[in-house]
Amino acid sequence: MSPVSDSTNRVIPGPQETEEKIYHPSDGLFTDAHVPDFDAYLAIYKKSTEEPEEFWADVAQEFYWKKPPSGQMLQYNFDVNKGNIYIKFMEGAKTNICYNVLDRNVHERNLGEKVAYYWEGNSPTHHQTITYIQLLRSVCRCANALKLLGVKKGDRVAIYLPMIPELVYTMLACARIGAVHSIVFAGFSSESLCERIMDAQCNILVTADGVYRGDKLINLKKIASEALERCKESMDLCVQKCVVVRHHAFRTNSDASNKLQTPWDESCDIWWDDLMEGVSDECEPEWMDSEDPLFILYTSGSTGKPKGVVHTVTGYMLYTSLTFKYVFDYHHDDVYWCTADIGWITGHSYITYGPLANSATSVLFEGVPVYPHVGRLWEIIEKYGVSKFYTAPTAIRLLMKYGREPLQRFDLSSLRVLGTVGEPINPEAWLWYYDVVGQQRCPVIDTFWQTETGGHVLTPLPAATPLKPGSATCPFFGVQPAILNEHGEELEGEAEGYLVFRKPWPGIMRGVYGNQERFESTYFRKFPGFYVTGDGCRRDKDGYYWITGRIDDMLNVSGHLLSTAEVEAALTEHPSVAEAAVVSRPHTVKGECLYCFVTLKDHKEFNRTLMEELKRKVREKIGPIATPDFIQNAPGLPKTRSGKIMRRVLRQIARNEKDLGDLSTLADPKVVEVLFSQRCEAAA
Ligand code: PRX
Repeated sequence: MSPVSDSTNRVIPGPQETEEKIYHPSDGLFTDAHVPDFDAYLAIYKKSTEEPEEFWADVAQEFYWKKPPSGQMLQYNFDVNKGNIYIKFMEGAKTNICYNVLDRNVHERNLGEKVAYYWEGNSPTHHQTITYIQLLRSVCRCANALKLLGVKKGDRVAIYLPMIPELVYTMLACARIGAVHSIVFAGFSSESLCERIMDAQCNILVTADGVYRGDKLINLKKIASEALERCKESMDLCVQKCVVVRHHAFRTNSDASNKLQTPWDESCDIWWDDLMEGVSDECEPEWMDSEDPLFILYTSGSTGKPKGVVHTVTGYMLYTSLTFKYVFDYHHDDVYWCTADIGWITGHSYITYGPLANSATSVLFEGVPVYPHVGRLWEIIEKYGVSKFYTAPTAIRLLMKYGREPLQRFDLSSLRVLGTVGEPINPEAWLWYYDVVGQQRCPVIDTFWQTETGGHVLTPLPAATPLKPGSATCPFFGVQPAILNEHGEELEGEAEGYLVFRKPWPGIMRGVYGNQERFESTYFRKFPGFYVTGDGCRRDKDGYYWITGRIDDMLNVSGHLLSTAEVEAALTEHPSVAEAAVVSRPHTVKGECLYCFVTLKDHKEFNRTLMEELKRKVREKIGPIATPDFIQNAPGLPKTRSGKIMRRVLRQIARNEKDLGDLSTLADPKVVEVLFSQRCEAAA
């Protein structure tokens, strides 16, 4: 394999056979691959970085343009010293992403009868098949209904729905009429929902009456109503109408429905079915400028306040479509399944936009991996003949615990590619996925990316990239990674440091909603001229990238980013708590979990009731994903003389690492001894 230089003369040599085991694509599995081998990958990568204008112009030809791209393909500034940061891609061209992912499939490609989604409910008895023509009609009905409610181009629509088809209808309906969707994961609390609604000033909220997650009933409308009440209390009720989907599970089951006791406000709430009645299933799309916003998606920020990441129409469309095609080596007879929730970026990019742009058939799954039995995922793979499967390391680690037996009951021979996303995958989980799920036949594609990147940025390609367990391997087309040291100096060859990108690719975020300053300070100020991911990274001698985890105050619980500041703010809201510090601790299933140190106010007692109250507080403020696993009483916290909490020391206490290194900057070293003596062994 010959070394090839990219446009910046950095070498991507390709993997050498060394002492570490490298996994090669199975013979015969990818005879028709889009990228057949590593040399082909290098050639396409070279073109994408040396001639980006031509490269992306070719990609753009696959799409429908109301006004074709002309003039400059890409304009940007990544250097805060040279003025505002901005990225513009094919500005001036006009298109509509909904039209591209639906109408073209139905009217140009004649794929109206092709299945777009196999929807599989939480209960195995609930399922539905949705073809492209049915999807187009449902989306148009929803688009017209939103218009009836007064929604116009540029308006923000909050969507707080479980994984039901109406979630896809609503997001695509927004895209069709030029409204900006802001989807809030339906596991977030009323407070989180309210904060996001207010930040984006949404005027419509779409939710459901309730949902079952496993056997747990969740009264979604109640949470949504509480969120709206909160907005009202803050004198900031921007939402004028709340559209409520009656969930399948409650349509025929009056017992379950009674349990919900759906709160109702006649002046605001309206049932989805009533709204859709008699509405036309045809709707002319709104033709959008390439750089018009498509959606806002909130992600945790290290200050505690979530950031509204903004993506725009064309760059996101091209990038999610292209990555989907190549990273999963998608072909028309594939059945693809991504187990993520659409409430996160993975679902936006790789359940909705990327697959539909490729006319794919996908599984849309509402349930959880272990309900009603621990083989549910394998059962669904067999049921639909899934060939491309994309999940999170946390799900793999959870299912590993049940051993091979649940898999042996099902036929998994349809599988060809296995993907993972969301957090570093430990080699043990990688190997289990490869050996037991993929039966040593399917490559494991470890995709590194972020809400901000819009799509995969470091990733193997199934037939082309020899794999190393735990490495996200090489950059995707058009992506130019670099590794910097603390001083911002670029490191060559084998190196470890900050992972940054030197140039934009079409799918990168365009800003933080309503806050240019935060956009620049979070991603561009530390190292002018680069987009800073916030992740640490190592490059090995073969040029492969290994993500080493976050290097800011963020932690990754079950593939979801949380900010320690956000959890600390929730804890200190409790009247007994004077101060709190939160760090991560490794967890066998979740990857990382929350270990909280709390200092109580004078005369307050640390007991089980308090611990329960603190956990409830965090759940209420953020959501169940942020529930602390460990809460330790901390009579004092290790601080520097200037009063800064030394989190490094707290992390070591949480992990029971006795060798604490240099403690000379601590104001009171005795605190450490006390904290060690009281550390939690078992989860709270
Ligand atoms: O720390 C990295 C981790 O998840 C972060 C992005 O989180 P979020 O914006 O919620 O998006 C998750 C889904 C794309 C990253 O900064 N991360 C994501 N994928 C990987 C990963 N860490 C290691 N390996 C990955 N494959």
